[in-house]
Amino acid sequence: MNFNTSSSKQTWSADAYSTHGRFVADLAGAVFEWLAPQAGEKILDLGCGDGALTHKLADIGADVLGVDMSDDLLAAARERGLKVMNRDGHKLDFPAEFDAVFSNAALHWMSQPELVIDGIWRALKPGGRFVAEFGGHGNVAAIVTAMRAVSARREGDESLAGPWFFPSADVYADMLADAGFDVRRVGLYPRPTPLKTGMKEWLKLFRKPFFEQFGTEADSVLDEVEQLLRPSLCDARGNWTADYVRIRVEAVKPL
Ligand code: BEZ
Repeated sequence: MNFNTSSSKQTWSADAYSTHGRFVADLAGAVFEWLAPQAGEKILDLGCGDGALTHKLADIGADVLGVDMSDDLLAAARERGLKVMNRDGHKLDFPAEFDAVFSNAALHWMSQPELVIDGIWRALKPGGRFVAEFGGHGNVAAIVTAMRAVSARREGDESLAGPWFFPSADVYADMLADAGFDVRRVGLYPRPTPLKTGMKEWLKLFRKPFFEQFGTEADSVLDEVEQLLRPSLCDARGNWTADYVRIRVEAVKPL
């Protein structure tokens, strides 16, 4: 996981992430299958967070390095015995040393995707693959729209509602091709995602800067956003589902 560097900076607590964000790693089966990691391969896990997936790669026998920008999450990853480093995904400077670059639920936090793609290219050996999944076009659209609506009513900064990069498949494929990649497969996959700890916890974990801008009103803004979302994202039993759409991609650096 990685973040933009402006005043809208998102920070992470490993405890909160483990309690309310564990589903992120739990739902990564498909991208793992696309990666098909092999024992002995040298793999870079870009935006490794607390290392929940990095650990699975290491268990398979891969020589895996995780990078992220959250020291708190990196500390949790180190406690799992993983090799990790603090690196900005926009400034990767590994010299053609990895068989694969893998990323799950992190690239949407990186606001300059061309720089990220260039760094991934540099990091891969010729013939190496880039396999990633992250938020695609339309991801959490209802949630962002509800935040924007409440922000407009309260004269807040709407841009804090949705700072993410959620590309369509065509747009992202073109970016990769422009960098020289051979795009093997790319697609958008709607994935309604149950939120076991509810919508408010999701909002507080993932969009803290938006609510903080309202100071002492933050809690009532949170109530209002939740109420707007209830008819579309909460069922009759009180179970919340987030309107996730994933983009999944496999691209190869030609020999
Ligand atoms: C995602 O994984 O798609 C995501 C998570 C938090 C905020 C935005 C998107």
